[in-house]
Amino acid sequence: MYGPKILVMAGSLRAGSHNGRLAALVAKELALAEAHVTRISLADYPLPLLDAELLADSGPPDAAVKLKHMLAAHQGAFIASPEYTASVTPLLKNAIDWVTRVRERNEAPYAAFKDRVFALGSASARADGGLHALAALRQILEIGCGAVVLPEQINVGRADDAFDDMDNLKDEDLATALKDMVRRLIDLASVMPKATE
Ligand SMILES: Cc1cc2nc3c(=O)[nH]c(=O)nc-3n(C[C@H](O)[C@H](O)[C@H](O)COP(=O)(O)O)c2cc1C
Repeated sequence: MYGPKILVMAGSLRAGSHNGRLAALVAKELALAEAHVTRISLADYPLPLLDAELLADSGPPDAAVKLKHMLAAHQGAFIASPEYTASVTPLLKNAIDWVTRVRERNEAPYAAFKDRVFALGSASARADGGLHALAALRQILEIGCGAVVLPEQINVGRADDAFDDMDNLKDEDLATALKDMVRRLIDLASVMPKATE
């Protein structure tokens, strides 16, 4: 019997992305803890840069509708975002912005974010990791989208040397913190309303 449905994604498409690696590790730990995990790449949801004129002219593109449905089909999500200029990547922000503009008939605004729980991570080559990206993403999801965001988060500094050959975290305390975050994500996602198909 599987646990809640959890979506996992990274805010980077870079080959060898540290955040892609972090997302893969969290997906593995979620699956080991018996969550029903879906890992996606934003490469499969190509979206133009959101501009209000474009939105007014043509509405959200199909990829935005698909991404919104994908989110809505899960009770929780883990997002690993790189830090770009003390914030999240434009790729991730643009995707979130588009999803907020998709509204089915009679649906409340931000329906795909409300009643969902999010856990956050960031990996950066810098010693202090992606703390600013984590703060920015928390603000976007909590304040901007009305989501529940776990206080537990994973910040991987010196990311080029943080993973071992098996793609696990070398630092034992960080590895334990990641497992604790995964457990909390599963526990809270389990009490969220059932996801839409
Ligand atoms: C435009 C740009 C801005 C960046 N700004 C920051 C930053 O403010 N802080 C930081 O730690 N790293 C910064 N970086 C470095 C990225 O965080 C680093 O390349 C990281 O590995 C990207 O994540 P990825 O490996 O998942 O692709 C920046 C990189 C780019 C391309």
